[in-house]
Amino acid sequence: MRIDVLTLFPNMFTGFLNESIMARAIKNQLVEVNLIDFREFSTNKHKKVDDYPYGGGAGMVLQVQPVYDALTSIKGYKDALKIMVTPQGETFTQCKAYDLSKQDHIIILCGHYEGFDERIRDYFDIEISIGDYVLTGGELAAMVLIDSITRVQPQVISKDESHLNDSFSNDLLEHPHYTRPREFNGKTVPEVLLNGNHEKIKKWRYEESVKRTKKRRQDLYEKHQRGGNFE
Ligand code: ADE
Repeated sequence: MRIDVLTLFPNMFTGFLNESIMARAIKNQLVEVNLIDFREFSTNKHKKVDDYPYGGGAGMVLQVQPVYDALTSIKGYKDALKIMVTPQGETFTQCKAYDLSKQDHIIILCGHYEGFDERIRDYFDIEISIGDYVLTGGELAAMVLIDSITRVQPQVISKDESHLNDSFSNDLLEHPHYTRPREFNGKTVPEVLLNGNHEKIKKWRYEESVKRTKKRRQDLYEKHQRGGNFE
């Protein structure tokens, strides 16, 4: 999968792309991430990419020209799924991460400033928000998308680390986990996990998942009860 990111702050991605599972996925060519600084496409002599809003008001607005020129410079941009990350988008979910992971090529535009010139929207297919709060720019949101899309790509996570039991993958939060030691400060590991009975362990984990979801996320619990697929 190829991901192109249009950003004014490519350096923000350095640590993210060079550590842990992301770095491994890139090294193994399971995903390719290109950072495009669209300031370089500004035709303004000061390389400005924002301007005052028509009609007045606070803040600056991202201009359409540098975004359009940067976007159309990307090879294969016409066939790519073009995404804007904005608080006005559809809320991102695990289900959308799975959907997006099936694309061959996505392009993500990270906004900044007070907003985008509305005409930018004409060149993008979908808008995604990572939650009901406002960030200073789209870079963190883009990283959230890239991370969650990458980790569900085939072969990115080994069978041992499988994402198939992730929270949300069946409308349930994950069951509790334990590792050594068996006892810490008088707190013990549930007996069922120690007896090697895999049927019982599976049942216990499922029940714990349901209990936890019911307690913490009534909305998900109800969806699970209805048998609805996660969305
Ligand atoms: N840019 C600023 N805030 C955002 C959010 N919540 N989601 C996506 N992009 C954003």
